[in-house]
Formats: sequence, C-alpha cells, structure tokens
Amino acid sequence: MTHRNAIQFAYWVPNVSGGLVISDIEQRTDWSYDYNVRLAQAAEKNGFDYALTQVRFTAGYGAENQHESVSFSHALLAKTEKLKVIAAILPGPWKPALAAKQLATIDYLTNGRIAVNIVSGWFKGEFDAIGEEWPEHDERYVRSEEFIRSIKGIWTKDNFSFEGKYYQFTNYTLKPKPIQQPSIEVFQGGSSRAARDMASRVSDWYFTNGNSLEEIKKQVDDIREKAKANNHHVKIGVNAFIIARDTEEEAHAVLQEIIRKANVEAVHAFGDAAKEAGTASKEGEGNWAKSSFEDLVQYNDGFKTNLIGTPEQIAERIVDLKNVGVDLILSGFLHFIEEVEYFGKKILPLVRKLEEKNNH
Ligand SMILES: Cc1cc2nc3c(=O)[nH]c(=O)nc-3n(C[C@H](O)[C@H](O)[C@H](O)COP(=O)(O)O)c2cc1C
Repeated sequence: MTHRNAIQFAYWVPNVSGGLVISDIEQRTDWSYDYNVRLAQAAEKNGFDYALTQVRFTAGYGAENQHESVSFSHALLAKTEKLKVIAAILPGPWKPALAAKQLATIDYLTNGRIAVNIVSGWFKGEFDAIGEEWPEHDERYVRSEEFIRSIKGIWTKDNFSFEGKYYQFTNYTLKPKPIQQPSIEVFQGGSSRAARDMASRVSDWYFTNGNSLEEIKKQVDDIREKAKANNHHVKIGVNAFIIARDTEEEAHAVLQEIIRKANVEAVHAFGDAAKEAGTASKEGEGNWAKSSFEDLVQYNDGFKTNLIGTPEQIAERIVDLKNVGVDLILSGFLHFIEEVEYFGKKILPLVRKLEEKNNH
C-alpha cells in the first residue's frame, strides 16, 4: 500500500544501444521498440511512475544507435496505461514554440502522461556535427532557463509575450493548452551551480547524477534553500544503477565484472567529452567533475549512489535518500525487464513498509 509522499521511481529508457553501462559484460537489454514496449509495460506493473528517454544525435560512448526521444516517448505512451514518459529535449535543435506545441498534442493523445526533461548538453562533438551553436557552459543554462520560461508561459498563458536573449514571443496563444494543469511537468538534468540555480527558479524537478548520501544531501539542502528564497518548489530525482541480488556477494561480483569488462577506450572518450560539462562550469561542481574511471563506466555516476546489494540493503538506502529530501530514484539496470520485475517483487514492498514505519 502506498501513502502520502511515497518516494517515486523512474527508469532510463534504453532508446540508445549499448545498455546503461559502458562494458562488454552481457546486458540483456535491447534498444528496439519491441523490447522497450515490454519493458514499459513491466515497469508500470511493478510500481514505476516514470520512464525517462534519452536525447542523443550522435554516438558518444559506444551508444552507436539512438532512437529520437520525443517520438519514442509517444510510442511508449501509446502502449501503456499509467506510466508517465519524460521526453528529453535539447534547446538548440528544439525551439520552444515547437516543443510546447508538440508536447501539448502528445498530452492530448495520451490523456496527460507526457513530461519533459530539458537538458543543456554535454557533448560538443554532437552539436558541431549537426551544425548547432555551442554556447559556453553557464550560457547554455541561460538559454535553457529561457526555454523553460517560454514553454511554461505558452502552456499557462494566453497572449504570451517574452523578450529574452535567445527567444522572443509576441502575443502568442497556444490552443489547445495541455490537459495537465497548470502545466506539463518540467524536469532538468545537471548538477553544476548554474543547473542548481536554474532548478531553484523554474524547473519542477531537478535530476542529478548518482552520488553518496552526504553529497546528495548537500545538493538537496542547497537547492531547497535557494528555491525557498525564490518562492519556488522543486522536487529532486537522483540517478542510481541498481544491482539487486539475493546476496551482497553476488551483487558486488556483478559490479566487479562490469568494471573488469569496461570498454576502456569508450569510457575514456566519454570522460573527455563529459569534461565539457563537469569541469567546464566555473566552480567545477558539475556532473562528472569528480568522477573516477570506475564511476564513468555507468555514464551518470550510478554506482556512487550504492543501491548495490540485497533487497533489504537497497530498500534501506532508498529510504535514507528519501529522508534527506529525495523525491524520486531514477534507476538503471543491467538486464532491464527481469530486474524491473525483481525490483517490483522484492524491493518495492520493503520500501513501502519502511516508509509506513517512518510515518508512525
Ligand atoms: C538524469 C539526467 C539525464 C540526462 N539526460 C541527457 C540526455 O538525454 N541527453 C543529453 O544530451 N544530456 C543529458 N543529460 C546531461 C545534462 O543535460 C547536462 O549536460 C550534464 O548533466 C552536465 O551538466 P552540469 O555541467 O550542469 O552538471 C542528463 C543529465 C542527467 C542528470
């Protein structure tokens, strides 16, 4: 049984090839539509609230093939009933008027189950390849913030006008407005100061890379304090690569095998490209600023969150994260469908029990 403020769960949609770890270990995960439909259906049956698609125009780290995020999200929504799917969008290739219109239509077609993740870009090579401008790190967030203000303005106001550096609107009225009121949920990804400041002003959700409990707590406290000063409420989602096995030894053996079989060249190539994001921000606190080789094998630092062990250990650590203010766990798995089912059967009931206990 769920209760008020139950922690929520999302999973990464494998709409790019190669799985969620940059390793030659066997991954019973597939980027095909058929596999993804079965996964989405299994996820909604097993207690997942959201699925997050990835946006990628070129291969970054062995992710050789990528399906486009918005159309793929819509196709998954068409085959599910309750799951919300978060489509990832990059300001640059997308313009806010198109994104707002496209997502409002999908909202209608799916009875209000679309959400959006505004990502600011980490891969310069990708932007160069498709002829898009590559503003420097903090400037990318100036653009993203204007993008979010624009789509939210379009969704919530008639005669919307906006005078930004990157986007301008004059008396624009979108009809119909989305079904979801007051607006479609807006997530964002990134951990730098610029990302946190943007979250504390405009986003509904702040998504961050995996990290230790202490580091996550620092981010949560920082963002919540700033958001409060701005009279804004933002929820927090944290990435974790979950390795749940019946014994702790088995779970750790899987982690060791993933790292032992890492695709060294691709991990280094990814690490170099990611520096454009992680260390490019002035304060050097962005995603990947402090990631080791082992961390980078899961491309959003998912091992660091340490949801690796038995169902009991993982459930306890999830509730610890909730207790420092985390609202959602964004999860990745080695063998997606089978592990999402294991999660629903073995871990989720323990999480709900612990939450219930905490409430009394
Ligand atoms: C949960 C999450 C999902 C992300 N998804 C994407 C994505 O699909 N495509 C993309 O290009 N970047 C994605 N990013 C990268 C961010 O947009 C951002 O470039 C990166 O996190 C570095 O930001 P920072 O320097 O502000 O920390 C994602 C980041 C996070 C945390």
